[in-house]
Amino acid sequence: MNQTVVILDFGGQYNQLIARRVRECGVYCEVLPYHTPVEKISKKEPIGIIFTGGPNSVYLEDAPRCSKEVFELGIPVLGICYGIQVMAHTLGGHVTSPDSREYGKTKTKYDTACPLFDGLPAQGITWMSHTDYVDQMPEGFSATAYTDSCPTAAMQNQEKKLYGLQFHPEVLHTQNGTQMLHNFLYKICGAQGDWTMGDYAQNTIDAIRKKVGDGKVLLALSGGVDSSVAAALLAKAVGPQLTCIFVDHGFMRKNEGDEVEAAFAHKGMNFVRVNAEDRFLAKLAGISEPEKKRKLIGEEFIRVFEEEARKLDGIDFLGQGTIYPDIVESGTKTAKMVKSHHNVGGLPEDLKFQLVEPLRQLFKDEVRACGLELGLPYEMVYRQPFPGPGLGVRCLGAITRDRLEAVRESDAILREEFQIAGLDKKVWQYFTVVPDFKSVGVRDNARSFDWPVIIRAVNTVDAMTATIEPIDWPVLMKITDRILKEVKNVNRVCYDMSPKPNATIEWE
Ligand code: XMP
Repeated sequence: MNQTVVILDFGGQYNQLIARRVRECGVYCEVLPYHTPVEKISKKEPIGIIFTGGPNSVYLEDAPRCSKEVFELGIPVLGICYGIQVMAHTLGGHVTSPDSREYGKTKTKYDTACPLFDGLPAQGITWMSHTDYVDQMPEGFSATAYTDSCPTAAMQNQEKKLYGLQFHPEVLHTQNGTQMLHNFLYKICGAQGDWTMGDYAQNTIDAIRKKVGDGKVLLALSGGVDSSVAAALLAKAVGPQLTCIFVDHGFMRKNEGDEVEAAFAHKGMNFVRVNAEDRFLAKLAGISEPEKKRKLIGEEFIRVFEEEARKLDGIDFLGQGTIYPDIVESGTKTAKMVKSHHNVGGLPEDLKFQLVEPLRQLFKDEVRACGLELGLPYEMVYRQPFPGPGLGVRCLGAITRDRLEAVRESDAILREEFQIAGLDKKVWQYFTVVPDFKSVGVRDNARSFDWPVIIRAVNTVDAMTATIEPIDWPVLMKITDRILKEVKNVNRVCYDMSPKPNATIEWE
Protein backbone atom coordinates (compact mmCIF):
# COMPACT_ATOMS: atom_id res chain seq x y z
CA MET A 1 0.00 0.00 0.00
CA ASN A 2 1.24 3.48 -0.81
CA GLN A 3 1.83 6.10 1.84
CA THR A 4 -1.19 8.40 1.78
CA VAL A 5 -1.74 12.10 2.36
CA VAL A 6 -5.29 13.29 3.03
CA ILE A 7 -6.22 16.70 1.67
CA LEU A 8 -9.23 18.19 3.41
CA ASP A 9 -11.10 20.46 1.04
CA PHE A 10 -12.42 23.68 2.55
CA GLY A 11 -13.77 24.94 -0.78
CA GLY A 12 -10.74 26.74 -2.19
CA GLN A 13 -10.13 27.14 -5.89
CA TYR A 14 -6.66 25.57 -5.68
CA ASN A 15 -7.57 22.32 -3.91
CA GLN A 16 -6.84 20.05 -6.88
CA LEU A 17 -3.67 21.99 -7.54
CA ILE A 18 -2.45 20.99 -4.06
CA ALA A 19 -3.25 17.36 -4.91
CA ARG A 20 -1.35 17.67 -8.13
CA ARG A 21 1.74 19.10 -6.38
CA VAL A 22 1.65 16.26 -3.84
CA ARG A 23 1.50 13.76 -6.73
CA GLU A 24 4.40 15.61 -8.39
CA CYS A 25 6.37 15.01 -5.19
CA GLY A 26 5.78 11.27 -5.64
CA VAL A 27 3.21 10.87 -2.86
CA TYR A 28 -0.30 9.40 -3.15
CA CYS A 29 -3.10 11.70 -1.95
CA GLU A 30 -6.86 11.82 -1.65
CA VAL A 31 -9.02 14.94 -1.53
CA LEU A 32 -11.84 14.57 1.00
CA PRO A 33 -14.50 17.05 2.12
CA TYR A 34 -13.63 19.09 5.23
CA HIS A 35 -16.41 17.45 7.25
CA THR A 36 -15.04 13.90 6.76
CA PRO A 37 -15.28 12.15 10.17
CA VAL A 38 -11.97 11.75 12.01
CA GLU A 39 -12.42 7.95 12.16
CA LYS A 40 -12.60 7.82 8.37
CA ILE A 41 -9.44 9.91 8.09
CA SER A 42 -7.45 7.82 10.54
CA LYS A 43 -8.60 4.59 8.87
CA LYS A 44 -6.63 5.69 5.84
CA GLU A 45 -3.52 5.84 8.04
CA PRO A 46 -2.28 9.02 6.40
CA ILE A 47 1.28 10.17 6.89
CA GLY A 48 0.07 13.77 6.72
CA ILE A 49 -3.04 15.91 6.40
CA ILE A 50 -3.29 19.13 4.39
CA PHE A 51 -6.09 21.68 4.81
CA THR A 52 -6.83 23.61 1.62
CA GLY A 53 -7.76 27.27 1.43
CA GLY A 54 -11.34 28.43 1.18
CA PRO A 55 -13.28 31.63 0.61
CA ASN A 56 -14.89 31.90 4.06
CA SER A 57 -14.09 33.77 7.26
CA VAL A 58 -13.52 31.29 10.05
CA TYR A 59 -15.23 33.38 12.77
CA LEU A 60 -18.56 33.44 10.91
CA GLU A 61 -21.18 31.10 12.28
CA ASP A 62 -21.68 28.86 9.26
CA ALA A 63 -18.00 28.75 8.21
CA PRO A 64 -16.62 25.26 7.44
CA ARG A 65 -14.75 23.91 10.45
CA CYS A 66 -13.01 20.72 11.45
CA SER A 67 -13.01 18.67 14.60
CA LYS A 68 -10.30 19.36 17.19
CA GLU A 69 -9.49 15.65 17.21
CA VAL A 70 -7.81 15.94 13.80
CA PHE A 71 -4.96 17.73 15.58
CA GLU A 72 -4.71 15.05 18.24
CA LEU A 73 -4.03 12.09 15.95
CA GLY A 74 -0.28 12.69 16.09
CA ILE A 75 -0.33 13.03 12.29
CA PRO A 76 1.39 16.12 10.85
CA VAL A 77 -1.07 18.76 9.60
CA LEU A 78 -0.36 21.58 7.18
CA GLY A 79 -3.02 24.31 6.99
CA ILE A 80 -2.91 26.45 3.87
CA CYS A 81 -4.56 29.92 3.77
CA TYR A 82 -8.05 29.34 5.21
CA GLY A 83 -6.50 26.12 6.53
CA ILE A 84 -4.09 27.98 8.85
CA GLN A 85 -7.01 30.06 10.08
CA VAL A 86 -9.14 27.00 10.85
CA MET A 87 -6.18 25.52 12.67
CA ALA A 88 -5.63 28.67 14.76
CA HIS A 89 -9.34 29.16 15.47
CA THR A 90 -9.90 25.53 16.49
CA LEU A 91 -6.89 25.43 18.79
CA GLY A 92 -7.75 28.61 20.70
CA GLY A 93 -5.97 31.28 18.65
CA HIS A 94 -7.64 34.27 17.02
CA VAL A 95 -8.23 35.30 13.43
CA THR A 96 -8.82 38.90 12.43
CA SER A 97 -10.01 40.77 9.38
CA PRO A 98 -7.63 43.72 8.91
CA ASP A 99 -8.56 47.09 7.37
CA SER A 100 -5.78 47.02 4.80
CA ARG A 101 -5.81 44.19 2.29
CA GLU A 102 -2.75 42.06 1.53
CA TYR A 103 -3.49 40.29 -1.71
CA GLY A 104 -1.50 38.72 -4.54
CA LYS A 105 2.28 38.66 -4.73
CA THR A 106 3.77 39.56 -1.36
CA LYS A 107 7.36 39.86 -0.08
CA THR A 108 7.80 37.33 2.71
CA LYS A 109 10.62 36.57 5.15
CA TYR A 110 11.16 33.03 6.46
CA ASP A 111 12.72 31.49 9.50
CA THR A 112 14.75 28.83 7.71
CA ALA A 113 15.12 26.82 10.93
CA CYS A 114 11.47 25.81 10.36
CA PRO A 115 11.52 22.48 8.48
CA LEU A 116 9.02 23.84 5.93
CA PHE A 117 11.56 26.42 4.80
CA ASP A 118 14.67 24.27 5.21
CA GLY A 119 17.21 24.90 2.47
CA LEU A 120 15.29 27.90 1.07
CA PRO A 121 16.47 31.51 0.76
CA ALA A 122 15.50 33.63 3.80
CA GLN A 123 13.00 35.62 1.76
CA GLY A 124 10.91 35.39 -1.36
CA ILE A 125 7.60 36.18 -3.01
CA THR A 126 4.44 34.40 -1.90
CA TRP A 127 0.88 34.41 -3.22
CA MET A 128 -1.76 35.63 -0.75
CA SER A 129 -5.44 35.29 -1.49
CA HIS A 130 -7.18 35.80 1.86
CA THR A 131 -7.50 39.06 3.77
CA ASP A 132 -8.07 37.46 7.18
CA TYR A 133 -5.02 36.40 9.14
CA VAL A 134 -4.03 34.86 12.48
CA ASP A 135 -3.34 37.73 14.92
CA GLN A 136 -3.09 35.48 17.96
CA MET A 137 -1.50 32.07 17.63
CA PRO A 138 -2.72 29.16 19.75
CA GLU A 139 -0.59 28.11 22.70
CA GLY A 140 2.56 26.23 21.77
CA PHE A 141 2.85 27.88 18.32
CA SER A 142 5.51 30.26 17.04
CA ALA A 143 5.60 32.39 13.90
CA THR A 144 8.01 31.27 11.17
CA ALA A 145 7.30 33.70 8.33
CA TYR A 146 6.39 37.38 8.18
CA THR A 147 5.28 40.02 5.72
CA ASP A 148 5.03 43.80 6.17
CA SER A 149 1.45 43.55 7.35
CA CYS A 150 1.14 39.94 8.53
CA PRO A 151 3.25 38.83 11.52
CA THR A 152 2.07 35.20 11.14
CA ALA A 153 2.52 34.38 7.44
CA ALA A 154 3.47 30.94 8.77
CA MET A 155 3.31 29.25 12.16
CA GLN A 156 4.39 25.98 13.67
CA ASN A 157 4.07 23.78 16.71
CA GLN A 158 6.97 21.45 16.03
CA GLU A 159 6.25 19.20 18.97
CA LYS A 160 2.74 18.46 17.73
CA LYS A 161 3.82 18.57 14.06
CA LEU A 162 1.28 21.26 13.20
CA TYR A 163 2.16 23.81 10.54
CA GLY A 164 0.31 26.64 8.84
CA LEU A 165 0.89 28.91 5.84
CA GLN A 166 -1.12 32.06 5.24
CA PHE A 167 -0.07 31.99 1.56
CA HIS A 168 -0.49 29.37 -1.19
CA PRO A 169 2.63 27.23 -1.75
CA GLU A 170 0.83 25.29 -4.51
CA VAL A 171 0.57 28.15 -7.01
CA LEU A 172 3.54 29.00 -9.20
CA HIS A 173 3.51 32.66 -8.07
CA THR A 174 4.91 31.50 -4.73
CA GLN A 175 8.67 31.12 -5.16
CA ASN A 176 9.88 27.71 -3.96
CA GLY A 177 6.30 26.75 -3.05
CA THR A 178 6.65 23.19 -4.33
CA GLN A 179 9.85 22.86 -2.27
CA MET A 180 7.88 23.89 0.85
CA LEU A 181 5.32 21.15 0.15
CA HIS A 182 8.17 18.74 -0.56
CA ASN A 183 9.71 19.67 2.81
CA PHE A 184 6.38 19.07 4.55
CA LEU A 185 6.03 15.67 2.92
CA TYR A 186 9.61 14.45 3.22
CA LYS A 187 11.03 16.26 6.27
CA ILE A 188 7.92 16.34 8.43
CA CYS A 189 5.67 13.46 7.30
CA GLY A 190 8.47 11.03 6.44
CA ALA A 191 7.37 10.47 2.85
CA GLN A 192 9.41 7.98 0.85
CA GLY A 193 8.18 8.94 -2.61
CA ASP A 194 6.64 5.54 -3.24
CA TRP A 195 3.92 6.68 -5.63
CA THR A 196 4.06 6.92 -9.45
CA MET A 197 1.73 7.60 -12.35
CA GLY A 198 1.73 3.83 -12.91
CA ASP A 199 0.13 3.50 -9.46
CA TYR A 200 -2.42 6.14 -10.39
CA ALA A 201 -3.35 4.15 -13.50
CA GLN A 202 -3.63 0.93 -11.52
CA ASN A 203 -5.68 2.54 -8.72
CA THR A 204 -7.99 4.07 -11.29
CA ILE A 205 -8.41 0.75 -13.11
CA ASP A 206 -9.30 -0.90 -9.78
CA ALA A 207 -11.76 1.89 -8.96
CA ILE A 208 -13.44 1.57 -12.38
CA ARG A 209 -13.81 -2.20 -11.89
CA LYS A 210 -15.38 -1.66 -8.49
CA LYS A 211 -17.79 0.99 -9.77
CA VAL A 212 -18.79 -0.73 -13.00
CA GLY A 213 -18.96 -4.32 -11.72
CA ASP A 214 -20.34 -6.37 -14.56
CA GLY A 215 -22.16 -3.36 -16.04
CA LYS A 216 -21.65 -2.14 -19.57
CA VAL A 217 -19.87 1.11 -20.42
CA LEU A 218 -20.29 3.33 -23.42
CA LEU A 219 -17.47 5.79 -24.12
CA ALA A 220 -17.41 8.89 -26.25
CA LEU A 221 -14.24 8.39 -28.23
CA SER A 222 -13.02 11.37 -30.21
CA GLY A 223 -9.44 10.22 -30.75
CA GLY A 224 -8.14 13.21 -28.78
CA VAL A 225 -5.73 12.74 -25.89
CA ASP A 226 -8.34 12.76 -23.12
CA SER A 227 -10.82 10.33 -24.59
CA SER A 228 -8.03 8.03 -25.82
CA VAL A 229 -6.48 7.80 -22.36
CA ALA A 230 -9.94 7.31 -20.84
CA ALA A 231 -10.59 4.55 -23.41
CA ALA A 232 -7.29 2.85 -22.57
CA LEU A 233 -8.08 2.92 -18.82
CA LEU A 234 -11.60 1.62 -19.35
CA ALA A 235 -10.44 -1.04 -21.79
CA LYS A 236 -7.87 -2.31 -19.26
CA ALA A 237 -10.47 -2.22 -16.50
CA VAL A 238 -13.51 -3.75 -18.15
CA GLY A 239 -12.32 -4.92 -21.60
CA PRO A 240 -15.22 -6.42 -23.55
CA GLN A 241 -17.84 -4.65 -21.39
CA LEU A 242 -16.73 -1.43 -23.10
CA THR A 243 -18.26 -0.08 -26.28
CA CYS A 244 -16.53 2.95 -27.76
CA ILE A 245 -18.72 5.08 -29.92
CA PHE A 246 -17.01 7.47 -32.19
CA VAL A 247 -19.48 10.14 -33.28
CA ASP A 248 -18.13 11.85 -36.34
CA HIS A 249 -20.03 15.12 -35.89
CA GLY A 250 -18.47 16.59 -39.00
CA PHE A 251 -16.25 18.95 -37.02
CA MET A 252 -13.22 16.65 -37.07
CA ARG A 253 -9.88 17.61 -38.53
CA LYS A 254 -8.97 16.47 -42.04
CA ASN A 255 -8.79 12.64 -42.31
CA GLU A 256 -9.23 12.36 -38.55
CA GLY A 257 -12.29 10.15 -38.65
CA ASP A 258 -10.44 7.47 -40.59
CA GLU A 259 -7.39 7.75 -38.33
CA VAL A 260 -9.48 7.26 -35.19
CA GLU A 261 -11.14 4.25 -36.72
CA ALA A 262 -7.78 2.77 -37.71
CA ALA A 263 -6.41 3.27 -34.18
CA PHE A 264 -9.28 1.80 -32.18
CA ALA A 265 -11.32 -0.59 -34.28
CA HIS A 266 -10.53 -4.30 -33.73
CA LYS A 267 -8.57 -3.65 -30.49
CA GLY A 268 -10.46 -5.89 -28.05
CA MET A 269 -13.24 -3.43 -27.27
CA ASN A 270 -16.42 -2.85 -29.24
CA PHE A 271 -16.01 0.06 -31.64
CA VAL A 272 -18.88 1.82 -33.43
CA ARG A 273 -18.53 4.75 -35.82
CA VAL A 274 -21.50 7.04 -36.46
CA ASN A 275 -21.34 9.52 -39.31
CA ALA A 276 -23.60 12.34 -38.16
CA GLU A 277 -22.33 15.41 -40.00
CA ASP A 278 -25.60 16.29 -41.72
CA ARG A 279 -27.55 15.93 -38.51
CA PHE A 280 -25.21 18.25 -36.59
CA LEU A 281 -25.09 20.85 -39.35
CA ALA A 282 -28.88 20.92 -39.54
CA LYS A 283 -29.15 21.33 -35.78
CA LEU A 284 -26.67 24.21 -35.77
CA ALA A 285 -27.95 26.05 -38.83
CA GLY A 286 -28.17 29.78 -38.12
CA ILE A 287 -26.92 29.47 -34.51
CA SER A 288 -24.11 31.94 -33.83
CA GLU A 289 -23.91 32.33 -30.05
CA PRO A 290 -20.86 30.31 -28.87
CA GLU A 291 -22.38 28.95 -25.67
CA LYS A 292 -25.53 27.92 -27.52
CA LYS A 293 -23.41 26.16 -30.18
CA ARG A 294 -21.48 24.30 -27.49
CA LYS A 295 -24.61 23.27 -25.67
CA LEU A 296 -26.33 22.11 -28.86
CA ILE A 297 -23.30 20.12 -29.98
CA GLY A 298 -23.00 18.59 -26.50
CA GLU A 299 -26.68 17.70 -26.37
CA GLU A 300 -26.76 16.27 -29.85
CA PHE A 301 -23.71 14.24 -28.97
CA ILE A 302 -25.48 12.68 -26.02
CA ARG A 303 -28.63 12.09 -28.08
CA VAL A 304 -26.60 10.16 -30.64
CA PHE A 305 -25.19 8.12 -27.79
CA GLU A 306 -28.60 7.42 -26.41
CA GLU A 307 -29.77 6.22 -29.82
CA GLU A 308 -26.73 3.97 -30.15
CA ALA A 309 -27.10 2.78 -26.58
CA ARG A 310 -30.67 1.74 -27.25
CA LYS A 311 -29.40 -0.42 -30.07
CA LEU A 312 -26.95 -2.03 -27.66
CA ASP A 313 -28.23 -4.04 -24.78
CA GLY A 314 -28.33 -2.70 -21.23
CA ILE A 315 -25.72 0.07 -21.09
CA ASP A 316 -25.35 1.38 -17.54
CA PHE A 317 -22.45 3.81 -17.66
CA LEU A 318 -21.27 6.64 -19.85
CA GLY A 319 -17.49 7.07 -19.88
CA GLN A 320 -16.07 10.54 -20.46
CA GLY A 321 -12.59 12.01 -20.76
CA THR A 322 -13.41 15.06 -18.64
CA ILE A 323 -10.26 16.49 -17.08
CA TYR A 324 -9.89 18.87 -14.15
CA PRO A 325 -9.48 22.18 -16.06
CA ASP A 326 -12.77 21.42 -17.89
CA ILE A 327 -14.49 21.33 -14.53
CA VAL A 328 -12.89 24.49 -13.17
CA GLU A 329 -13.63 26.51 -16.28
CA SER A 330 -17.23 25.36 -16.38
CA GLY A 331 -17.59 26.76 -12.86
CA THR A 332 -17.30 24.81 -9.62
CA LYS A 333 -18.83 25.89 -6.33
CA THR A 334 -16.15 28.55 -5.91
CA ALA A 335 -14.64 29.24 -9.34
CA LYS A 336 -16.53 31.47 -11.76
CA MET A 337 -17.53 30.13 -15.19
CA VAL A 338 -15.36 31.15 -18.14
CA LYS A 339 -16.95 28.98 -20.82
CA SER A 340 -18.84 25.73 -20.56
CA HIS A 341 -16.78 22.83 -21.85
CA HIS A 342 -19.07 20.69 -23.84
CA ASN A 343 -18.51 17.48 -21.94
CA VAL A 344 -19.58 19.24 -18.74
CA GLY A 345 -22.02 22.07 -19.42
CA GLY A 346 -23.78 20.47 -22.36
CA LEU A 347 -25.09 17.43 -20.53
CA PRO A 348 -28.86 17.24 -20.83
CA GLU A 349 -30.73 17.04 -17.56
CA ASP A 350 -32.55 13.84 -18.48
CA LEU A 351 -29.30 11.91 -18.93
CA LYS A 352 -30.01 8.25 -18.41
CA PHE A 353 -26.54 6.88 -17.66
CA GLN A 354 -24.28 7.03 -14.64
CA LEU A 355 -21.01 8.79 -15.44
CA VAL A 356 -17.52 7.28 -15.25
CA GLU A 357 -14.88 9.99 -15.53
CA PRO A 358 -11.49 8.45 -14.77
CA LEU A 359 -9.49 11.60 -15.57
CA ARG A 360 -11.61 14.03 -13.56
CA GLN A 361 -8.82 14.90 -11.14
CA LEU A 362 -5.97 15.17 -13.59
CA PHE A 363 -4.39 18.12 -15.32
CA LYS A 364 -3.55 17.80 -19.00
CA ASP A 365 0.13 17.02 -18.56
CA GLU A 366 -0.77 14.33 -16.03
CA VAL A 367 -3.23 12.80 -18.51
CA ARG A 368 -0.40 12.47 -21.03
CA ALA A 369 1.89 10.87 -18.44
CA CYS A 370 -0.91 8.45 -17.58
CA GLY A 371 -1.39 7.61 -21.28
CA LEU A 372 2.30 6.77 -21.67
CA GLU A 373 2.09 4.57 -18.57
CA LEU A 374 -0.76 2.68 -20.21
CA GLY A 375 1.39 2.04 -23.25
CA LEU A 376 -0.36 4.38 -25.69
CA PRO A 377 1.92 5.57 -28.49
CA TYR A 378 3.82 8.82 -27.93
CA GLU A 379 2.27 10.49 -31.02
CA MET A 380 -1.22 9.85 -29.72
CA VAL A 381 -0.49 10.98 -26.18
CA TYR A 382 1.29 14.11 -27.31
CA ARG A 383 -1.30 14.87 -29.94
CA GLN A 384 -2.43 18.42 -29.40
CA PRO A 385 -5.68 18.84 -27.50
CA PHE A 386 -8.82 19.30 -29.52
CA PRO A 387 -12.05 20.70 -28.10
CA GLY A 388 -15.10 18.43 -27.94
CA PRO A 389 -17.09 20.67 -30.31
CA GLY A 390 -14.10 20.50 -32.67
CA LEU A 391 -13.95 22.78 -35.67
CA GLY A 392 -17.50 23.81 -34.76
CA VAL A 393 -16.06 26.44 -32.39
CA ARG A 394 -13.34 27.41 -34.87
CA CYS A 395 -15.81 28.17 -37.64
CA LEU A 396 -16.94 31.29 -35.83
CA GLY A 397 -20.58 32.32 -35.62
CA ALA A 398 -23.22 30.39 -37.56
CA ILE A 399 -21.51 27.40 -39.18
CA THR A 400 -21.58 27.13 -42.97
CA ARG A 401 -20.13 24.34 -45.08
CA ASP A 402 -17.79 26.59 -47.07
CA ARG A 403 -16.23 28.13 -43.96
CA LEU A 404 -16.05 24.78 -42.22
CA GLU A 405 -14.08 23.44 -45.18
CA ALA A 406 -11.84 26.53 -45.05
CA VAL A 407 -11.06 25.83 -41.37
CA ARG A 408 -10.44 22.15 -42.05
CA GLU A 409 -8.15 22.72 -45.05
CA SER A 410 -6.18 25.59 -43.48
CA ASP A 411 -5.77 23.59 -40.25
CA ALA A 412 -4.37 20.66 -42.24
CA ILE A 413 -1.85 22.94 -43.96
CA LEU A 414 -0.84 24.50 -40.65
CA ARG A 415 -0.31 21.10 -39.05
CA GLU A 416 1.69 19.82 -42.00
CA GLU A 417 4.00 22.84 -42.01
CA PHE A 418 4.42 22.80 -38.22
CA GLN A 419 5.52 19.21 -38.47
CA ILE A 420 8.03 19.98 -41.23
CA ALA A 421 9.44 22.86 -39.13
CA GLY A 422 9.58 20.68 -35.97
CA LEU A 423 7.13 23.01 -34.24
CA ASP A 424 4.63 20.23 -33.49
CA LYS A 425 6.96 19.17 -30.67
CA LYS A 426 7.48 22.69 -29.34
CA VAL A 427 4.01 24.19 -29.50
CA TRP A 428 1.20 22.92 -27.27
CA GLN A 429 -1.76 23.85 -29.43
CA TYR A 430 -1.98 25.34 -32.90
CA PHE A 431 -4.94 25.72 -35.18
CA THR A 432 -6.80 28.08 -37.47
CA VAL A 433 -10.12 29.85 -37.11
CA VAL A 434 -12.34 31.40 -39.75
CA PRO A 435 -14.48 34.36 -38.67
CA ASP A 436 -17.91 35.11 -40.09
CA PHE A 437 -16.99 38.33 -41.87
CA LYS A 438 -15.39 38.90 -45.24
CA SER A 439 -12.75 41.31 -46.45
CA VAL A 440 -11.80 42.73 -49.80
CA GLY A 441 -8.81 41.42 -51.73
CA VAL A 442 -7.53 40.94 -55.28
CA ARG A 443 -7.08 37.69 -57.12
CA ASP A 444 -6.16 37.31 -60.81
CA ASN A 445 -6.47 41.08 -61.21
CA ALA A 446 -10.05 41.04 -59.99
CA ARG A 447 -11.68 42.07 -56.74
CA SER A 448 -12.33 39.30 -54.27
CA PHE A 449 -14.58 39.37 -51.22
CA ASP A 450 -13.64 36.39 -49.10
CA TRP A 451 -13.05 34.98 -45.59
CA PRO A 452 -9.89 35.54 -43.56
CA VAL A 453 -8.03 32.69 -41.82
CA ILE A 454 -6.52 33.39 -38.39
CA ILE A 455 -3.61 31.29 -37.13
CA ARG A 456 -3.31 30.62 -33.40
CA ALA A 457 -0.33 28.93 -31.72
CA VAL A 458 -0.02 28.86 -27.93
CA ASN A 459 2.04 27.24 -25.23
CA THR A 460 0.74 26.31 -21.81
CA VAL A 461 1.30 23.77 -19.07
CA ASP A 462 -2.26 23.18 -17.96
CA ALA A 463 -4.52 25.26 -20.27
CA MET A 464 -5.43 27.61 -17.42
CA THR A 465 -3.10 30.31 -18.78
CA ALA A 466 -1.27 30.40 -22.12
CA THR A 467 1.42 32.38 -23.92
CA ILE A 468 1.58 32.95 -27.64
CA GLU A 469 4.33 31.30 -29.60
CA PRO A 470 6.61 33.54 -31.67
CA ILE A 471 6.79 31.62 -34.95
CA ASP A 472 9.67 32.21 -37.35
CA TRP A 473 8.68 34.53 -40.14
CA PRO A 474 9.62 32.18 -43.06
CA VAL A 475 7.39 29.44 -41.56
CA LEU A 476 4.46 31.84 -41.28
CA MET A 477 5.10 33.11 -44.83
CA LYS A 478 5.06 29.56 -46.21
CA ILE A 479 1.84 28.68 -44.38
CA THR A 480 0.22 31.91 -45.54
CA ASP A 481 1.29 31.28 -49.09
CA ARG A 482 -0.14 27.76 -49.08
CA ILE A 483 -3.43 28.76 -47.44
CA LEU A 484 -3.97 31.56 -49.96
CA LYS A 485 -3.18 29.23 -52.86
CA GLU A 486 -4.88 26.04 -51.71
CA VAL A 487 -7.89 27.00 -49.59
CA LYS A 488 -11.03 28.07 -51.40
CA ASN A 489 -12.86 31.30 -50.50
CA VAL A 490 -9.97 32.74 -48.46
CA ASN A 491 -8.04 35.94 -49.29
CA ARG A 492 -6.29 36.94 -46.04
CA VAL A 493 -4.23 35.28 -43.28
CA CYS A 494 -3.67 36.81 -39.82
CA TYR A 495 -1.71 35.72 -36.71
CA ASP A 496 -3.33 35.95 -33.28
CA MET A 497 -0.97 37.58 -30.75
CA SER A 498 -3.16 37.29 -27.64
CA PRO A 499 -2.15 35.38 -24.49
CA LYS A 500 -4.62 33.80 -22.08
CA PRO A 501 -5.75 35.82 -20.22
CA ASN A 502 -7.13 38.17 -21.66
CA ALA A 503 -8.05 35.88 -24.54
CA THR A 504 -8.93 32.23 -24.12
CA ILE A 505 -7.15 29.62 -26.24
CA GLU A 506 -10.15 28.98 -28.50
CA TRP A 507 -11.95 31.92 -30.05
CA GLU A 508 -15.38 30.77 -28.96
P1 XMP B 1 -9.92 27.82 -23.67
O1 XMP B 1 -10.44 28.25 -24.99
O2 XMP B 1 -11.00 27.65 -22.65
O3 XMP B 1 -9.30 26.38 -23.91
O4 XMP B 1 -8.79 28.67 -23.16
C1 XMP B 1 -8.61 25.62 -22.95
C2 XMP B 1 -8.39 24.26 -23.53
O5 XMP B 1 -9.64 23.57 -23.57
C3 XMP B 1 -9.98 23.25 -24.91
N1 XMP B 1 -11.42 23.49 -25.06
C4 XMP B 1 -12.37 22.56 -24.97
N2 XMP B 1 -12.28 21.24 -24.74
N3 XMP B 1 -14.63 21.03 -24.87
C5 XMP B 1 -13.41 20.48 -24.70
O6 XMP B 1 -13.34 19.27 -24.51
C6 XMP B 1 -14.80 22.36 -25.11
O7 XMP B 1 -15.91 22.85 -25.26
C7 XMP B 1 -13.61 23.15 -25.15
N4 XMP B 1 -13.38 24.48 -25.33
C8 XMP B 1 -12.03 24.65 -25.27
C9 XMP B 1 -9.14 24.15 -25.78
O8 XMP B 1 -8.93 23.60 -27.06
C10 XMP B 1 -7.89 24.26 -24.96
O9 XMP B 1 -7.06 23.16 -25.13
